[in-house]
Amino acid sequence: MRALPELDSRIVARPRTWLVTGCAGFIGSNLIEALLARGQRVVGLDNFATGFRHNLDQVRDRLGEAAWKNFRFIEGDIRSLETCKKACEGVDVVLHEAALGSVPRSIDDPVTSHDTNVTGFLHMLVAARDAQVARFVYAASSAAYGDWPGLPKVEEKIGRPLSPYGAGKHMNEIYADTFGRCYGLQTVGLRYFNVFGPRQDPDGAYAAVIPKWIAAMLRGEAVFVNGDGETARDFCYIDNVVQANLLAALAEDPQAVDQVYNVAIGEQTTLNELHALLAELLAARDPGFKPVAPIYRDFRAGDVRYSRADIAKAQRLLGFRPTHRIREGLEEALDWYIARLRPVTKVGEGMVLSDGRVPAAISNSPERMGHPFPALD
Ligand SMILES: NC(=O)c1ccc[n+]([C@@H]2O[C@H](COP(=O)([O-])OP(=O)(O)OC[C@H]3O[C@@H](n4cnc5c(N)ncnc54)[C@H](O)[C@@H]3O)[C@@H](O)[C@H]2O)c1
Repeated sequence: MRALPELDSRIVARPRTWLVTGCAGFIGSNLIEALLARGQRVVGLDNFATGFRHNLDQVRDRLGEAAWKNFRFIEGDIRSLETCKKACEGVDVVLHEAALGSVPRSIDDPVTSHDTNVTGFLHMLVAARDAQVARFVYAASSAAYGDWPGLPKVEEKIGRPLSPYGAGKHMNEIYADTFGRCYGLQTVGLRYFNVFGPRQDPDGAYAAVIPKWIAAMLRGEAVFVNGDGETARDFCYIDNVVQANLLAALAEDPQAVDQVYNVAIGEQTTLNELHALLAELLAARDPGFKPVAPIYRDFRAGDVRYSRADIAKAQRLLGFRPTHRIREGLEEALDWYIARLRPVTKVGEGMVLSDGRVPAAISNSPERMGHPFPALD
C-alpha cells in the first residue's frame, strides 16, 4: 500500500500503539494492514456487524506472522462504554472507523444507526479522554454536507442532513469539537467521499456502488443505475484514505488539530462514466468480456445529485497528496475483485466464484437484495 515516503519514515521511526475500531471492515482492515506493515502495535475492535473475520485473515496472510504478532483483536461493541474503555487502555492514537454505514440503512432503522454512530461514538470519545489518548482521528462523512447545493464542497459550508446517517455523522463532528474545548482531547475528523478498494463488501442490501457493480459485471449481469446516470460522486481510492489517517494522526501543527477535512480527489465522475470505465478496464483484462447495457431506474430518494470535494484544506494543513485518481484506484481494485469474484466453474445451472462462493448469495438482483439500489453515499 502506497503512502508518502516522508510520512512512512516518520511512522517507522517512532512505533506507537494504535486502536483501530471497525478493524474487520473495509477501511479499518486497510488501516491495520498499513500500520502493521510499518512496524506499529495495533489493537483492533469490531463486533462483526458488517465486517468479516476473513478481512482480518487476509491481512494476516499478506503480512505474515512477524507483523501479525503486533496485532491484538478485541471482539466487542462500541455501544458498551466498558468495552471502549478496555480497548483504549495504553493506546496512543485512536482511528475510529466503527459505524453502520449507508444512508438507506439509517432510513430503514434510525435507532440502531444512532446507537452505534452517535452513542457508540460518544463512548469512544469518553474512553479516549479517560485513557489520555494523544490523538483521536475519526471517520466523518461527506453526508455532513446534506442539502448544501454548492460545489465543490468546502468544509465550512454545510446544509441540513438528508438522512439519520448524515445527522449522526454531523453530531460526531459537534461532539468531537466539544470534547476538544471541554477536555482538551485532540481530534481530527475526516469527511470521506465514496471510498472504494480491496475488501469493500460487494454483497448485501446496502453494498456500495463500485463493488456491487464490479461483482455484477464480472458475472455478465446488467447493473442498476439510479436515475439518468448523470448523478456524480468524488470517488476516492482507499490508499488516499489511509494516507489521510496517518497524516491526521501525526500532524504537529496546532492549527491542523480539532478540524474536519474533506478526503477525496477533487474530481467528479458520473455513474455513466463509472460504468464505461469499468467496462473498459474489464475488457482490457479479458478480451471475452461482453459489456451489458445498464438498467435505468428511478432516482433514489434523498440522494444528492452531485458531490465533489475541495481538498485544499487537507492539502494545506495536513500535507495530503492523493496518490490514486479514480482510474488508478479502479485498476488496483479490479485486480483484487477479479481474483475473488470472477465466475470460474459451471455447476449445473449455477456458477462458482474463484473464492468458492455461489453467486446467488451475492446477486445484484434487487428482488434478492431486498433494497432496490446500491448505496451511493
Ligand atoms: N466507505 C465509504 O465510502 C465511507 C464514506 C464516508 C464515511 N465512511 C465511514 O467510514 C467508516 C468505515 O466504513 P467502511 O466503509 O469501512 O464500512 P464497513 O461496514 O466495512 O466497516 C465498519 C466496521 O465497523 C464495525 N462495526 C459496526 N458497528 C459496530 C459496533 N457497534 N461495535 C464495533 N464495531 C462495529 C463493522 O463490523 C465493520 O467491520 C464508517 O464510520 C463509515 O461511516 C465510509
